[in-house]
Amino acid sequence: MSVLTRRHLLRRAALSASAVPASRLSVGSAATAAAGTGATLTGCDAESDPERRTSPEARLGLRFPEGFGWGAATSAYQIEGAAKEDGRGESVWDTFSHTPGRVRNGDTGDVAADHYHRYLGDLDLMQELGLATYRFSISWPRIQADGTGTPNQRGLDFYRRLVDGLHQRGIAPMATLFHWDLPQSLQDGGGWESRDVAYRFADYAEAVFEALGDTVPVWLTINEPKTVVQNGYLGGHHAPGLRNPSAAYLVAHHLQLAHGLAVQALRATGADSRIGAALNLHPCYPADDSDGVAEATRLYDGYENRLYLDPIFKGAYPADVLADLGPDSRLVQGIRDGDLRIISAPVDLLAVQYYTPLYVTAAGGTIRKWPTSMASWQQIFPDGMYDILTRVTRDYGDVPLTITENGLPTPDVLGADGTVDDPARIEFLRDHLAAVHRAIADGVPLESYHVWSLMDNFEWNEGYEQRWGLIYVDFPTQRRVLKRSAHWYRGVIADNAI
Ligand code: FCB
Repeated sequence: MSVLTRRHLLRRAALSASAVPASRLSVGSAATAAAGTGATLTGCDAESDPERRTSPEARLGLRFPEGFGWGAATSAYQIEGAAKEDGRGESVWDTFSHTPGRVRNGDTGDVAADHYHRYLGDLDLMQELGLATYRFSISWPRIQADGTGTPNQRGLDFYRRLVDGLHQRGIAPMATLFHWDLPQSLQDGGGWESRDVAYRFADYAEAVFEALGDTVPVWLTINEPKTVVQNGYLGGHHAPGLRNPSAAYLVAHHLQLAHGLAVQALRATGADSRIGAALNLHPCYPADDSDGVAEATRLYDGYENRLYLDPIFKGAYPADVLADLGPDSRLVQGIRDGDLRIISAPVDLLAVQYYTPLYVTAAGGTIRKWPTSMASWQQIFPDGMYDILTRVTRDYGDVPLTITENGLPTPDVLGADGTVDDPARIEFLRDHLAAVHRAIADGVPLESYHVWSLMDNFEWNEGYEQRWGLIYVDFPTQRRVLKRSAHWYRGVIADNAI
């Protein structure tokens, strides 16, 4: 019997024993449900209840395992602002956003959600939601303005205050070391095309580990190396804004080398913290049943998923992708003896980010099958969450998983009554969480889930137009308002159930 099947049977039994009793199903407004004072239904059959069909808040009766980590996520450049304060240097995203025509409406992260100054209020909001875990990222140019040398104490102090504030509120910090804001000086020296940058990253990681070490129980190395490769070096719509296919996959290698070196650096400190990478994984399905579609889908999956999973968990790049790139490719030429041993240094967990499926044609292109969100790249397909989680466990073994991003952008507005009504986000999260629940029941060792995002923020080349937060940010005033989805999420956390 496979690990997955065995665990599936055990978990199924455990979860069904702890399914939310119908008599505890809350109904009524999100606010009352969140406060735990919602009316109770006795003997309600969720499926036949009319409210179940009309209100996104109505409960599905799915309880999560005891101690499941409910969280939310952000990243430094997207929320902090304070771009020139306390010794912060410039990152590639400062350069990119200040280059005319690169970001919608000419928006930049100069101020963003001003979290650098408002972090205390933001911590209080996290506590109000009842978060058990908060995933944020550390800005490399705040720690080393030009990417090398003595760390900037004022930058480290900010993260120390943030981490202390989380602990004081009973929230576990989860820190990402690199969420795309490479110091511009390192970019000027070749950026991730240069192997040396992976070693600079290891130095930076070591400085951060020395300063924060055990106070952060979970470290994530690189956020979505694939997005840097695809958007930064193929599409060119993310920093550094290049369209250079031959460089792109060498960049993938150096990002992964950086990941492995950071894992080694953490181990060298002797800290008890756990560490892993954060990968955005896309389940790939054949678009139809035409000839050649299965092979095309398999290769597509190689570029989307196995190129990033295999080196970490199998110590090898996928042979089909290497063959497709060819022996003269800069990736193949750039792999040195010992690199894959470094990249495959054992990790403690894997952070999975799921947003969308991909449907691959025999010609190697993609088509859409499901409605998209405001983000045209995102098709809404909750089953993809189940498929990718179970696939990772099936193909890569027992490594503990955390979901570090999953969410939906909606065109939220602050109503005259001071509320923000985002039922579509509630439905999206509820349906994806139902898929998460099913994956856990089927044996996936998933320990936590982080909504993207805690608050509205700078969505890269889309600027501030797409709002992804549970918390609405009125950017001109920086006022925060809990959206309807935030009230709902607070209730989910309180009940440990959807
Ligand atoms: C992910 C990024 C995150 C955010 C979401 C919408 O790819 O990691 O910063 O932009 O997409």
